[in-house]
Amino acid sequence: MDYAVKNFIAQKQKAGCIVVGIYSAKGLSDAALALDTVSEGELSQIIRKGDIDGSIGQTLMLQSIKNSPAERVLLVGCGKKDRLTDKQYVELIQSSYNAINTTGVKDVVSFLTDIEVIDRDIYWKVRRSVEIMQELKYTFAHFKSEKPKAAKLSKWQFNVADKKSLDAASKGLLHGKSIASGVKSAKDLANMPPNICNPAYLSSQARQLADEYSDLINVKIVGEEEMATIGMHSYLAVGRGSRNESLMSILEYKGNPNSNAKPIVLVGKGLTFDTGGISLKPAAEMDEMKYDMCGAASVYGVMRAIAELKLPLNVVGILAGCENMPGGDAYRPGDILTTLSGQTVEVLNTDAEGRLVLCDVLTYVERYNPELVIDIATLTGACVIALGSHFSGLLSPDDKLAQELLNASALASDRFWRLPMDDGYDKQLQSNFADMANIGGRAGGTSTAACFLGRFTKKYRWAHLDIAGSAYQSGKAKGATGRPVTALIEFLLQNSNTSGLKA
Ligand code: BES
Ligand code: MN
Ligand code: ZN
Repeated sequence: MDYAVKNFIAQKQKAGCIVVGIYSAKGLSDAALALDTVSEGELSQIIRKGDIDGSIGQTLMLQSIKNSPAERVLLVGCGKKDRLTDKQYVELIQSSYNAINTTGVKDVVSFLTDIEVIDRDIYWKVRRSVEIMQELKYTFAHFKSEKPKAAKLSKWQFNVADKKSLDAASKGLLHGKSIASGVKSAKDLANMPPNICNPAYLSSQARQLADEYSDLINVKIVGEEEMATIGMHSYLAVGRGSRNESLMSILEYKGNPNSNAKPIVLVGKGLTFDTGGISLKPAAEMDEMKYDMCGAASVYGVMRAIAELKLPLNVVGILAGCENMPGGDAYRPGDILTTLSGQTVEVLNTDAEGRLVLCDVLTYVERYNPELVIDIATLTGACVIALGSHFSGLLSPDDKLAQELLNASALASDRFWRLPMDDGYDKQLQSNFADMANIGGRAGGTSTAACFLGRFTKKYRWAHLDIAGSAYQSGKAKGATGRPVTALIEFLLQNSNTSGLKA
């Protein structure tokens, strides 16, 4: 879909459809009022008849009204003439898009950008609208014989009330489009089946991205041979049961004018399938463990978006590709592994594999002398129990970094919730035979997993995101969500001082 921002005059505008808000208690927005006046009261007459009362998200499609060159007018309920919450505004956008998308409308001029939202400006309204509509447009029909029909709706223009706001609106458009493209590429990668999306597939995607942006991104693929040479025995152990080689794909993005500026490092868990290994998972819903690479997919999506935006930052993104399978050569409960850091780990459950992959990557990234490191992982079922799908878990010993991430996540409407990492959780990792065990018992499973990782991140500022509950949906709506791509891009925008969002 083509998007644009411009200053329009409602009653003079030609379009397949014009979208205007009406308030409950029969109030008209400015654009609706202008159309009502030019049509000699046609709108207020329809409203008086009671076909629409203005409650939030209600829609009524009108065919050509008197003296207006528009082919149709969509009335959208905006609630009490009051400032809306974020969620209510999103509802307006969703219902207008859905009402239009089922018709023959090709191009839209929307005046919903004039509706007031609490603490949000035109930048946010445009950006969020693009994000939401691209979300609604998303389908994954790659493996369906019947492809979805091409949408008729192909152009959506937003009204910008005054020339002064045009810069902010254009920026919102730019950011919205890149965020949406980052989210889409994360979803596409995550939705791929595990017989196709294996570690080699992740690395081919990384290579392609680096080719597309060869002036900004370098790629490096570390395979099993190199891992063995440098001593990443923990990562290697997890992949040993699989026929598919473990591959760590590294994307080095250099957008900072100072190419030596310390990078922000993003590490994504990329278990392209997690059977649990010898500690095999039960059969029910095991297919969903193709989503155990959603951390890596989100890193991929973020890297694509920042390259598109040419953000003036240095960022290293790592897709930690691996497959956890049972087999004759698989690692076992009881094995003791020597990690890249030199610390030893007793494996008590081969299904707690994510941390074993990540700990070696978190040591590996020391060589980048990072500004800070964020790992993103579908790490624990316990996080799904604690937070459901509404929040991603955030764990960090660094209060300032945690607060910055929380702020970015709230601004971006892609929320994080901080969980504790106190010493007591770390003590649960005690092992009789090695420096630590890879599990800490059922209690506080998300926190013990984070504490495990925390033992490998002492040399830099670090935060961990557990996205086990937020990265994908189960059941009828099964599919990747693309989270937390939006929040991470917002965090990077804030760090490069190019954000249009008010903190
Ligand atoms: N990939 C899973 C975590 C997971 C579970 C993600 C459910 C999404 C939905 C992870 O590798 C795992 O199996 N974790 C175990 C750890 C346990 C053995 C300590 C878990 O959460 O059960
Ligand atoms: Mn597992
Ligand atoms: Zn896993």
